[in-house]
Amino acid sequence: LSAATRGRGLHGSWASRWTFIMAATGSAVGLGNIWKFPYIAGENGGGAFVLVYLLCILLVGMPIMVAEVMLGRRGRQSPINAMRFLTEEAGLHGAWHAIGWLGVTAGLMILSYYAVIAGWALYYIGEMASGTFLGASAEQAGEIFGELLADPQELIFWQSIFMVLTIAVVIGGVTRGLGVAVRILMPMLFVLLLVLLGFSIQRGDFAQGFSFLFSFNAEALTWAGVLEALGHAFFTLSLGMGAIMAYGAYMPEHARIGRTVLAVGVLDTLVALMAGLAIFPIVFANPAIEPGAGPGLMFVSLPVAFGNMTGGLLFGSLFFVLVTVAAWSSAISLIEPAVAYLIETKRFNRLTANLLLGGIAWVVGLGSVLSFNVWEEKRLAGFNFFEFMDFLTSSVMLPLTGLFIALFVGWLMRPDTVRRELEDETHAVFSAWRWVVRYLSPFAVLVVFVLGVYKTFA
Ligand code: PHE
Ligand code: NA
Repeated sequence: LSAATRGRGLHGSWASRWTFIMAATGSAVGLGNIWKFPYIAGENGGGAFVLVYLLCILLVGMPIMVAEVMLGRRGRQSPINAMRFLTEEAGLHGAWHAIGWLGVTAGLMILSYYAVIAGWALYYIGEMASGTFLGASAEQAGEIFGELLADPQELIFWQSIFMVLTIAVVIGGVTRGLGVAVRILMPMLFVLLLVLLGFSIQRGDFAQGFSFLFSFNAEALTWAGVLEALGHAFFTLSLGMGAIMAYGAYMPEHARIGRTVLAVGVLDTLVALMAGLAIFPIVFANPAIEPGAGPGLMFVSLPVAFGNMTGGLLFGSLFFVLVTVAAWSSAISLIEPAVAYLIETKRFNRLTANLLLGGIAWVVGLGSVLSFNVWEEKRLAGFNFFEFMDFLTSSVMLPLTGLFIALFVGWLMRPDTVRRELEDETHAVFSAWRWVVRYLSPFAVLVVFVLGVYKTFA
């Protein structure tokens, strides 16, 4: 069976590289950029953390993304089965296809808390539109957010709505509709980030926000922080869990993977940096908000901006609509690999697969809901439940899967197969990429992982 034939049966075939870019961007750009990047940068002291994060994107994330797209295109099946096929093709036995399993599990675990946070964004659409934040001070915004967190029923309600939205799309088959979301709504999100940036420049402490993000303050950085930056590079690019591999299955035979990945990586990074540049000037202009405030950072700082700008009612509600859409297209890619696996191998139909997997992610998500209120004091290895899930997925599972992928592509796949899959790249680009994937990425991930985990618990 040729790769193209394998692909057609299950997924249909996408017209162009452009469609892949849209799906991959839809997956990549999400809560990771707008919610998570600013708050973990804030917790880790800014500057040096941001630099390490950018290096991880460039030297580890994007090269591994090339590897994942390539594996997905060659495998042309759900990640678990693709890895099984590729393992056999490389003449290997043993546990290599477990890469697929690890990834699919990580996806569901991420989805469990992703839906909870996306639920906050959903809730904020209505709060923005109804004028709750009009003229709000940072203290008031903090109180309103605190009240939301203290109310498990409210959180569960919005978490459930988001989960239903997600599986509704996946039940319908993912490729339809995703294009519209990315082509029209993502640019709108970008424009609204510019509006926010304008407000921050005018009314926030832009100089301090800027220097917080971009001046190299190495004292603030720890090995635990470096691991968090590395993990976030995987998280934000949707790597290490099969999402990009699954979409790679739609990539046309002759399309340059290298520049495609570059486009996605640059877009994703741009959105994250813009979110950071919009948020921190507001943080520094309001002593009631700490840079290290944690997961609530954007939900307290941005309402202050929207509540005090002209047209804030409209911009604010639209902004949270767009954040929800961005989260939505990411959530779809978190569940799709697992759904595809159940359909391909276990003869599930789409509906049952979605209900089962969405149900599991929803139940696990309840743990994260409760970790913001009733279970606030409960600790697992020093973390609350949400933090534990986040650490386990972002800082452990995604980097390890990424490491295995780099080793698989760099050392185990036949070099001529790899070269043939990437035959449209120039010799220089290919050699540089191969060197990075063979030596630099695995070494970096291994060192950062071992030191980071050790220091996190030491
Ligand atoms: N990349 C998404 C974000 O930044 C999250 C995600 C992670 C999606 C892993 C799919 C896979 O929000
Ligand atoms: Na992202």
